[in-house]
Amino acid sequence: MAGTSIPVHPLPVRIAHWVNALCILVMVLSGWKIYNASPIFGFAFPAELTLGGWLAGALQWHFAAMWLLFANGLLYIAYGLISGHLRRRMFPLSPAAAVRDVLSALRGRLAHEDLSVYNSAQKLAYLAAIALVACLILSGLALWKPVQLYWLASLMGDYEGARLLHFFCMAGLVAFVIVHVVMVVLVPKTFLTMITGKLRT
Ligand code: HEM
Repeated sequence: MAGTSIPVHPLPVRIAHWVNALCILVMVLSGWKIYNASPIFGFAFPAELTLGGWLAGALQWHFAAMWLLFANGLLYIAYGLISGHLRRRMFPLSPAAAVRDVLSALRGRLAHEDLSVYNSAQKLAYLAAIALVACLILSGLALWKPVQLYWLASLMGDYEGARLLHFFCMAGLVAFVIVHVVMVVLVPKTFLTMITGKLRT
């Protein structure tokens, strides 16, 4: 019997997702080069894992990707709110269901049979990733214009507070991406659906 395909990811979500993934890659690798120029902690990132060649080059990559990330993020959120995509795919989300699904995932027992619906662990992870990106943009703006946006930096303690927040949000997002990609490798069908938008049954 011929299989049927059901729509899973709308085109604007797929475009925003892959543009976002590219921007995050560029921002993280160039960010590591910028960090290495004046490390906060007692370590530096390996030079082979950084982008930009030198501090000024890394800053140019970082700012170029930042504007794309910012515009892309705004379009994704606007589309998600207006079309109802975010409400349908990420909610409802109860803390009890999120804890239950995260614990099952850690035990390797989380079923992901209906790929057109996110389980609560996914909903929580995706909302956390969106919040981390928003926090990275806000703390990044505070670092970029510390004089004009002093009120923003003061919400994060001060300039050093904004730097620490920026660093820890980066670390959280990198952890998310590692877990996210491992999940995609474990359920490879999801990768195709994020490209074609359809799920073949
Ligand atoms: C190369 C790296 C990446 C791969 C291979 C990848 C793959 C995927 C796939 C296959 C899905 C659909 C999951 C499903 O249907 O069950 C997905 C969804 C999602 N991914 Fe990624 N992803 C990557 C990077 C990222 C990054 C860097 C972020 C955020 C910073 C991100 C955030 C999200 C979000 C928020 C969703 C849900 C989108 C929605 O339905 O609106 N991904 N990703």
